[in-house]
Amino acid sequence: MFKIVKRETMADDTVVLNEIEAPRIAAKASPGQFVILKANETGERIPLTISDLDPERGTITVIYMVVGKSTALFQTLAVGDGYQDVIGPLGKPTDIEKLGKVVCVGGGTGVAVLFPITRGFKDAGNEVISIIGARNKDLLLLEDKMEAVSDQLHVCTDDGSYGHKGFVTEVLKDVLDNHKVDLVVAIGPVPMMKFVSRLTYEYNVKTLVSLNPIMIDGTGMCGGCRVSVGDKTKFACVDGPEFDGHKVDYDGLMQRLNAYTQEEKAAYEQYCKLHQT
Ligand SMILES: Cc1cc2nc3c(=O)[nH]c(=O)nc-3n(C[C@H](O)[C@H](O)[C@H](O)COP(=O)(O)OP(=O)(O)OC[C@H]3O[C@@H](n4cnc5c(N)ncnc54)[C@H](O)[C@@H]3O)c2cc1C
Ligand code: FES
Repeated sequence: MFKIVKRETMADDTVVLNEIEAPRIAAKASPGQFVILKANETGERIPLTISDLDPERGTITVIYMVVGKSTALFQTLAVGDGYQDVIGPLGKPTDIEKLGKVVCVGGGTGVAVLFPITRGFKDAGNEVISIIGARNKDLLLLEDKMEAVSDQLHVCTDDGSYGHKGFVTEVLKDVLDNHKVDLVVAIGPVPMMKFVSRLTYEYNVKTLVSLNPIMIDGTGMCGGCRVSVGDKTKFACVDGPEFDGHKVDYDGLMQRLNAYTQEEKAAYEQYCKLHQT
């Protein structure tokens, strides 16, 4: 069992942080990598990014949004409980080097994925400008942690309840108009990554995105996570999860993500019903 040693709720109780004992993963993982967790024997395999790690304590931190049956089951786990399986580190680490000026753009729970990558670019000696966004102030994640690893931090909310009122792309356009940027890293909802990539294409700035297709085995065997990148089929679990944002087929990714919406809704409703009785 992989014991939970710390649990925090964030963003209006819809997002949960778990620090988990997993010493062998904590000793090996790098920014950009993820784990697959199973709550119990019959649980689904759920991929979550390693948002932080502490090799000395032998722990990794994951931050997840409760969106369906399995993440609702995860939400019931308290400190002292554990995950039956945690497999990783999976995926390719982010290629972090000193480039000059790097802009890190995060939306929603994507900010939890972005944080270790932002810290990596800052530690490598880059000037880091970060732009983070959420639907409203209560849903904004990790503002303090992102501020600590950025030279400049811009905050946006869709409803204007905090920071700039509007989308991260509006602030990004302003940054691109006023700075010579060497790399943009964008992580968040698929439409956000699509529109960030469209914008940076106009400015000819290399852009990395981290994709979240449905995953099953996480080892390149099942094909569940296939995505189309530059007209080639890639498996996000072993070839990614990061790809060149200018080459991703975002519409195809959205279509595959929505393929099981009815079944996911039915499973969640049944889980909620069983849990209330
Ligand atoms: C590499 C990777 C890293 C991720 N990191 C994070 C993270 O750090 N924090 C976070 O909140 N979420 C992350 N996700 C997404 C997370 O895995 C899904 O939200 C979760 O699997 C939903 O499970 P569910 O049973 O609760 O919901 P479901 O009812 O099964 O699904 C709800 C929604 O989640 C999507 N989804 C369902 N199963 C998967 C799956 N196995 N993989 C990807 N998407 C799925 C569906 O398209 C659907 O729209 C990551 C996904 C990937 C692929
Ligand atoms: S999850 Fe099976 S091939 Fe990637």
